[in-house]
Formats: sequence, structure tokens, C-alpha cells
Amino acid sequence: VQAISFHTLRWLGAAEAVREQLVPRRPAPALDALLLTALALLWPHSQPPYSAHTLVNEAVTAAGLRHAREAGFVNAVLRRYLREAPALVQRLATDPRARFNHPAWWAKTLQHDWGPLAEPLMAAAQVHPPMALRVNRRRATPAEAAARLQTAGITARASRDPLLDSCLLLDTPVPVTRLPGFDDGWLSVQDVQAQRAARWLLGDSDDEARADRAADGWRVLDACAAPGGKTAHLLERATLDLLALDSDADRLSRVGETLERLGLTAQLKAADAAQPDAWWDGTPFDAILLDAPCSASGIVRRHPDIRWLRRPGDIATLAAAQLRLLGALWPLLKPGGRLLLATCSVFRAEGQHLLDAFLQRNRDATVGWLPGRSGHLLPLPDNATPLDDGTTGPPGDGFFYALLLKPR
Ligand SMILES: C[S@@+](CC[C@H](N)C(=O)[O-])C[C@H]1O[C@@H](n2cnc3c(N)ncnc32)[C@H](O)[C@@H]1O
Repeated sequence: VQAISFHTLRWLGAAEAVREQLVPRRPAPALDALLLTALALLWPHSQPPYSAHTLVNEAVTAAGLRHAREAGFVNAVLRRYLREAPALVQRLATDPRARFNHPAWWAKTLQHDWGPLAEPLMAAAQVHPPMALRVNRRRATPAEAAARLQTAGITARASRDPLLDSCLLLDTPVPVTRLPGFDDGWLSVQDVQAQRAARWLLGDSDDEARADRAADGWRVLDACAAPGGKTAHLLERATLDLLALDSDADRLSRVGETLERLGLTAQLKAADAAQPDAWWDGTPFDAILLDAPCSASGIVRRHPDIRWLRRPGDIATLAAAQLRLLGALWPLLKPGGRLLLATCSVFRAEGQHLLDAFLQRNRDATVGWLPGRSGHLLPLPDNATPLDDGTTGPPGDGFFYALLLKPR
């Protein structure tokens, strides 16, 4: 069910454009959902998930479970699609919804932000995401973890990027329950680009790798911690006095579960990071991670519903909240301290422009490190990971990172 839903959401633009051609009046929601699902699955793909015959039969049977008349309607629409598909597909070739499968405002924002990269970005959102693992260095080495995976028939390759020295990429994604070593805290599932955060916050840049132990004893704030992927990575790499905050108590409980599985400890607090008066004890932090709530436009290939659920006004609202969080947390940093700002967004409003707005208001802040030229890591092939066998892995998720330094 999840695979079918995800496929439909990835190709919803094309499915809606076809449905409008075939059925001028929008059917009732449940019937429309069934039709759109069938049309998304029937839309031409290099590897069609099902044969056209199977699809039409199953869609008609499903409609018949509700009403015989609906079965007849679905049968007529889908058979007409099959008869007219070549002409329909050709007619819709210039319809942006069918071509890009993203809402028009989203496509426009990407075109504004990234010009010719907008189309490759939208195409990348149609591809199934890779599965990357992070090895808990306190429990195993990547080689040991890879060997254990191999015994379960799972092939994992290590990254050659020195900053991704705990990262394994699976050739084929598998359910977490099939990963040997997961319950023992050897492994976590975490995207390649997300694995950069802990290294950058603890003091490594791409040019200058250094021992994480240098951060031992640091007092660290993870301001938006849930579900705890980056919190755990920080604690795997150094022995920290870490406070993990999240405003969502239910999500915060997942941080606790993750840390327990991995054998790590931190202080957890459900609180609004933008209101330090309510939770800060006045002792400044050596380092702060602000992995801010955002549009998640950098991870649409993992969550294909995001593009349809967001509204155009959300981006400005989110960027304003991110700026508020940054402004509230900056004073909590020690002189000489470092703050890593992260969003999993490809929109410049939630990255480069957010950083500019912050620097305008906080003249004491300097940028210590910015990946790429803008801080944005786009989910495109030039951000793919080199692997230990000499091949290149798939691109990681879309992220924005900026390391901010406070003068001594
Ligand atoms: C991008 S997620 C963090 C992901 C996490 N750092 C990880 O690597 O697993 C953003 C989190 O911020 C939390 N959040 C949103 N607004 C917040 C606020 N004002 N204060 C603290 N947490 C907040 C959300 O509940 C959400 O869990």
C-alpha cells in the first residue's frame, strides 16, 4: 500500500492532468483517488510497476467493492486512456504539471532559486531514495558492520569521503528489521548528507579533519533534536554534556528510545527552543546544533506527499520561524563557540537568504564553514558520494548547512 501511495504521489501531476482530459467533472473523492492511482501507475514508465491489463482489472474490482456503477465508470475511463494514451501523453508533454509532477508554485520557486537546475531537481524527486547507514563507532567499525550485513546477504559499500567515515551505502534498501546489528545498536539509518552535521559541529571541515575527541567534555545544545539522528551521531563521536530539546514531547520520546538502543545518554527536555527563558540554566554552550523545522523540500524523494501538502505561504512562515530560533539561540553560545545551522531544504529562503538575514542582524557572527559556495547541498549527481570500490553512489538528500562562529 505504501509503495502504491508513494508512486501515486510522485506522479500525481501527470495523473491529474490526464484525468482532467478524460473526465471533465471531478468525481467524488474516493473514486477520484482510485482513478488517479490507476492513472499514475499507467502513466508511461521505463519499468512499469504492473501490466496495463492487471491494473485495469484490479482498479475495476476495487471500484466494484463500493458500487457496480463505479466499476463500469472506472472501466470505461481506463480503457479509454489505454486507447488514447500515445496522443494524450504527447498532448500533455508541454503541461508543466504532467512534466514536473510538482505544484506550479514549487516549480516556480525552484526556477527562481536555481534556474536551469530546477528541472534536474524535480526529476531527482521522482527517483527512489538510497538507503544509507551510520555505524556506531562505539560499538563497531564500518568494516565489521559491513561484514555482518554481508552474512545476511546485504551488500554495503563504504564511502571514500573522509568526513563520512561511519557511512555505509546499501546496494538495495531493506526493512530496518532485516538489518543485523540494528537492535544491538551497531547501526542507524541516516542519509549521507545528514551524517555531515556531527562532524562539522564537532570541528571538522572538509579541508581540515581532526579528532572528534577534541570536543570531549563540550557542553552542547541540540535545539531541535527529534527523532534524534544527529543527537546520536554527536554522542557516538565524542563524550559530550548534551541537552536535546524538542518542542514536540511525543517526538522527543523517540530520541530517548534511539539513545537507549545505541547505548548513549543525554539530557532530554520538551521545550520551545525559541523561548530560552523557560528552560536555559544560564550556562553557555560550546556548540549548538540548530536543525531547524523547514519545508523538507530537500527530501521530497523520501516523502513524496510533502510537495502537495505544502502551501506557497509556508516557506516565508518557516523562514521567519527559523530566523527567530537562530536569534534566540545565538546569545546562548560561549565566546569562541560554534553554531551549526541546518535545514533539509533546497529553497534559498530556508538557506542562503536565511543566513544573510541573520548575519545582517548579528554583526558579531562570522561564517566559519559553508559547504559549496552557497551552503546548499543539492540532491544532484555532483553531490554523490565516492565509494570505496571506486564507483560513485547516488546523491544524498538536499540540505543547507552553515557553521557560525562567535568571536572570543
Ligand atoms: C528537522 S527536525 C529535526 C531532526 C533531527 N535533528 C534529527 O537529525 O533527527 C525539526 C524538529 O524541530 C522540532 N521543533 C519545531 N519547532 C521547534 C521549537 N520552536 N523548539 C524546539 N523544537 C522545535 C520539531 O518537532 C522537529 O522534531
